[in-house]
Amino acid sequence: MVTASAPGKLILMGEHAVVFGQPAIALAIDLRLICTIVPSASFSVNGEPLSDRQHSYVLAALRIAWDSSPVSIQINSGLPSGSGLGSSAAVTVATLAALSGLNGDYEEEVVARNGFEVESVVQGRASPIDTSTCTHGRGILIGNSPGPDLLWHIEKDEREWYVHNCEVPEMDIVVGYTGIIGRTGPLVAKVKRFADRSRFGMEIIEEIGQLTTEGLRMLRTGDKVGLGELMTRNQKLLAILGVSSPALNKLIRASLPHSYGAKLTGAGGGGSMIALTDRPADVCEAIRKRGGVPYVVRTGARGVTLSD
Ligand code: MEV
Repeated sequence: MVTASAPGKLILMGEHAVVFGQPAIALAIDLRLICTIVPSASFSVNGEPLSDRQHSYVLAALRIAWDSSPVSIQINSGLPSGSGLGSSAAVTVATLAALSGLNGDYEEEVVARNGFEVESVVQGRASPIDTSTCTHGRGILIGNSPGPDLLWHIEKDEREWYVHNCEVPEMDIVVGYTGIIGRTGPLVAKVKRFADRSRFGMEIIEEIGQLTTEGLRMLRTGDKVGLGELMTRNQKLLAILGVSSPALNKLIRASLPHSYGAKLTGAGGGGSMIALTDRPADVCEAIRKRGGVPYVVRTGARGVTLSD
């Protein structure tokens, strides 16, 4: 028997643009998903037969990284599914890590690379940011050239990502979950159609990349005012790309009077928003009043861990 625990993540800046190879920053958070795998007489997930529809990420992980011997998989998640907090990446990474634990050949980079392949198969089009963050933990910076703290370099379909460890101060961030499931695959496809059809769409994506690069500087110097402003500008660009929603806009508007900045996190559509604030209680109250579910999450969480 092997148990793997993977953190959820939030994207501080740069989602969607990162799928095109632009920079992005993501942080692992202290909500985790636990996956236990034992050899068994037949394949099952939480006591149910393995199914393509219900267990697409687990099935893709088994196809990519496992021989055919049956296993029983138990998953306990502290991450609401479709919340934009990395539930798909965490289930993918924890499953891959537990399988490699059973094989006795766990390697962080292999899990991150296979995790990206799984997300690409299931989602259709993806970047490695979610799976690299859930694997490595702490902070991840994706850049378009190699820099200090490079972890791995990933290429796919003429796009490339330099995945770096990003040392950032631990912070409390308020998350507001809309309760609406955001569907990453269709949202990513929608942004691609926009960028393919118009030069303007591509300019928005490039501008998000520039804001993220500025955001990294603010993060490193601890300039919360500057970082918050950039997050709010990032949100405006995401809204132009068509991935925000009335529910997200409502929670963001309610949080802003008590925050340095706020934006959606992850794919959008529904899912969650984040607020950078020194007044978490006020932001939580504002989110609750507008029908959202607030969480105060701590960044800097450990990456995937294995135990027998
Ligand atoms: C989803 O958490 C982040 C997106 O940028 C998709 C991806 O990077 O695979 C929307």
